[in-house]
Amino acid sequence: MSEAELQARPAAADTNDANDANDTNDTNDANDTEELTTSFRQAMRRLAGGVALVSTVHDGVRHGMTVTAVTSLTMDPPALVVSVNRHASAFEALVMSGRFCVNLLTQQHADLAVAFSRKPDGDARFVNGAWRTGESGLPTLDGSVASIACRLHDLVEFGTHAILIGAVEHLEIEPQPMAPLVYLSGQFGGFWPLTA
Ligand SMILES: Cc1cc2nc3c(=O)[nH]c(=O)nc-3n(C[C@H](O)[C@H](O)[C@H](O)COP(=O)(O)O)c2cc1C
Repeated sequence: MSEAELQARPAAADTNDANDANDTNDTNDANDTEELTTSFRQAMRRLAGGVALVSTVHDGVRHGMTVTAVTSLTMDPPALVVSVNRHASAFEALVMSGRFCVNLLTQQHADLAVAFSRKPDGDARFVNGAWRTGESGLPTLDGSVASIACRLHDLVEFGTHAILIGAVEHLEIEPQPMAPLVYLSGQFGGFWPLTA
């Protein structure tokens, strides 16, 4: 997808009923919306997620951020989706570069996950972790479970976020099984299989 196409995309539709000028019950609707948001946040805190760092390089500057909202989209062709806040410091670079790498973290990487979610942003974040330029040309984290290099195929905006659809172009996978980093209820942890 070209830079011009990405910029020409329409803004997300406003689906918030509380903004409807004809609505005579604005206050109640606003309260309902707030309650729904609070409950939804609580529910999603209970969903365990694998943790990854999304990285890119744009105009010679590296950008990266911590995400849990990443999942495979399809195997044919290999593709994944990442949901990114459009106000995140890395967002513009992710879109403009048109390429990004999803580095799946291990339990050794909890500090890295924190570092990539707060200031400083841009290149300064990369003093944390064993980064190198991968065969894909993208910032690649040594010691990650897998580094998945993608070309940005499309972008769907909704509310504060955008779903980036990444067509997988290149993979580096750690041959040994590694303990993945998991995030649940605001805490980092691990995964243990249920025994029979
Ligand atoms: C464990 C964890 C998971 C996160 N998952 C996401 C995510 O999936 N999408 C997202 O946009 N931000 C996510 N964030 C927030 C971003 O990493 C980052 O904090 C936020 O975008 C502000 O970053 P900035 O200082 O680069 O603007 C997550 C943060 C943490 C600590």
